[in-house]
Amino acid sequence: MNEVELFKAAQNLDKVGYLETDVDPTINLEEEINKLKKEKNAIILAHYYVDSEIQDIADYVGDSLGLSQMAESTDADLIVFAGVHFMAETAKMLNPQKKVILPDLKAGCSLADSCPAPLFRKFKEKHPDHVVVSYINCTAELKTLTDICCTSTNAVKIIESIPEDKKIIFAPDKNLGAYLVKKTGRDMILWNGACMVHEIFSAEKITKLMIRHPEAKFIAHPECEPHLLEKAEYIASTSGLIKFTQESEADTFIVATEAGILHEMQKRSPNKTFIPAPPENQCACNECPHMKRNNMEKLYTAMKYELPEVILPNWIIEDGRKCIDRMLDVSAKAGL
Ligand code: 13P
Ligand code: SF4
Repeated sequence: MNEVELFKAAQNLDKVGYLETDVDPTINLEEEINKLKKEKNAIILAHYYVDSEIQDIADYVGDSLGLSQMAESTDADLIVFAGVHFMAETAKMLNPQKKVILPDLKAGCSLADSCPAPLFRKFKEKHPDHVVVSYINCTAELKTLTDICCTSTNAVKIIESIPEDKKIIFAPDKNLGAYLVKKTGRDMILWNGACMVHEIFSAEKITKLMIRHPEAKFIAHPECEPHLLEKAEYIASTSGLIKFTQESEADTFIVATEAGILHEMQKRSPNKTFIPAPPENQCACNECPHMKRNNMEKLYTAMKYELPEVILPNWIIEDGRKCIDRMLDVSAKAGL
């Protein structure tokens, strides 16, 4: 891309989300990305839900907590986030002086979208004496209205860190919230949000799979609906589910979360069988359309031109970071 083309493509970022350019189909994207990584002292952070080829080229693949911890401790100059917008925002808040790029700015999250900050502010005003705990899957602006963040890995510890006499609002995921109410015994006011991926699993199809594979263990992410979680033999975050499949004596698993996770499960346990839990629609497995907006071409172009960049106002960085710092603190003390 010459300067004029780059200027035009950059002008279009808000509309299309990524730099629109033709990538030479003869180049070896893996080699080029690795070259850019060295040249720019960049780190590629990827979530377990992105395409397997991106997971394979990343410097670190992890769950939301691991990715935040890695973003906080990296000494790379350029942070490339192969995930979704709220994750890249979190990395930016933890690294205000560094450039953070996301291959596609439109890689959003239905959970984050389900809790707009202005609406939440009004809701919070109605419950002034409550501590606000937000799942990290929320916007940077929502984090400015949050006392402490959590991820699915540390959620129980975060809730337990709040004194018993304090009342709690939990946002934005009602399913994770309901799971935490059950697990911790704490009464919480739940925001009515949900993840579009974890909400559409078919209980009927899963039951049929369990009958067909009686030896299989059904495992699920706590973003799933309560009636599904009731059926699950094990409930955990993405990293927790991966660890469980690795350590379990079972060799077949029906997995209710985004299907990208199967790549790491299969890598760690090549001889085990992983069956993705099917959704209500006609698809055989469940994919997050936002995570899947990341691809190798966009990753390469983003690294080459260092665009699109995640930019946040200073007040959001300063106010929003506090709830992430508190979360990292409690996690570290809990040995997570
Ligand atoms: P974890 O990786 O923290 O389990 O979160 C799953 C998720 O939905 C990320 O968008
Ligand atoms: Fe958001 Fe759900 Fe996609 Fe995770 S899987 S990024 S919670 S929409």
